Amino acid sequence: MHTEVAEPREDLKIPKGVFCEDVVQVNHFTDRLFMFRITRPQSFRFRSGEFVMIGLPGLTKPIYRAYSIACPSWDDELEFYSIKVPDGPLTQHLQNIKLGDKILMRPKPTGTLVNDALLDGKRLYLLSTGTGIAPFASIIRDPETYEKFEKIILTHTCRKVPELAYGQNLVELTLSDPLVSEEAQNQLIYYPTVTQDEFKRTGRVTHLIDSGKLDEDLSLPKLNPAEDRVMICGSMGFLQDLKAMLIEKGFAEGSNSSPGEFVIERAFVG
Ligand code: A2P
Repeated sequence: MHTEVAEPREDLKIPKGVFCEDVVQVNHFTDRLFMFRITRPQSFRFRSGEFVMIGLPGLTKPIYRAYSIACPSWDDELEFYSIKVPDGPLTQHLQNIKLGDKILMRPKPTGTLVNDALLDGKRLYLLSTGTGIAPFASIIRDPETYEKFEKIILTHTCRKVPELAYGQNLVELTLSDPLVSEEAQNQLIYYPTVTQDEFKRTGRVTHLIDSGKLDEDLSLPKLNPAEDRVMICGSMGFLQDLKAMLIEKGFAEGSNSSPGEFVIERAFVG
């Protein structure tokens, strides 16, 4: 497949109406995964779970990609979690960013993985694969999530154990975050699984739900639309399989204008 790629240029043209922010932190987790933090424009507001369009200045052709904001809405900076695609139009450049580099960000956040798009319920399942955990980094550090739901179950499925690192760190930070630590210690359940490595829990979460293993491990009732609400973020196949599974169980998809029992967002790739 041929991908048209924009090459970096020397002159940094910043389009009008777009924020141009400084990179303040970069952490590489594996050769496929990294996170970065940027300064936050003072006027920028978002709801936990939303995404923004991110780009780089100085490319011959403007390329923006959707990135979930992976930090709470009160954070002084903005965090993003990204895959590295060797010939990805944006990530082939983005993976090389360093402290002090500039990132472009379009001003309007949006998305459906927000509390407002879900009806009230007892438990909130946050089901993710790969970088799909990013929006949940925001949701599990938002006090409103713990007010709205009795239990929050965060599942994260990756191929290999090192790919769980971002989520493991996130959960540790959440449990010690003074704003939500008490609630998180009582209400947050973290359920990581891997599919191509040895680990204490293996298998796709879809299979673990289907087989009843997940409910058994967590001593929870079977997923049901009367009590449970679900947010899903990950690869296309994952979303399709889970959506079909939830619809079969009687869950209705929600949106900002019409809240429902589950919501979906595709994790960014490329
Ligand atoms: P698997 O290794 O069995 O494909 P990827 O890196 O391809 O996005 O996958 C991330 C994780 O999501 C992997 O552990 C992968 O499992 C899992 N996964 C991929 N497709 C699905 C799906 N349709 N349903 C459930 N899990 C999936």
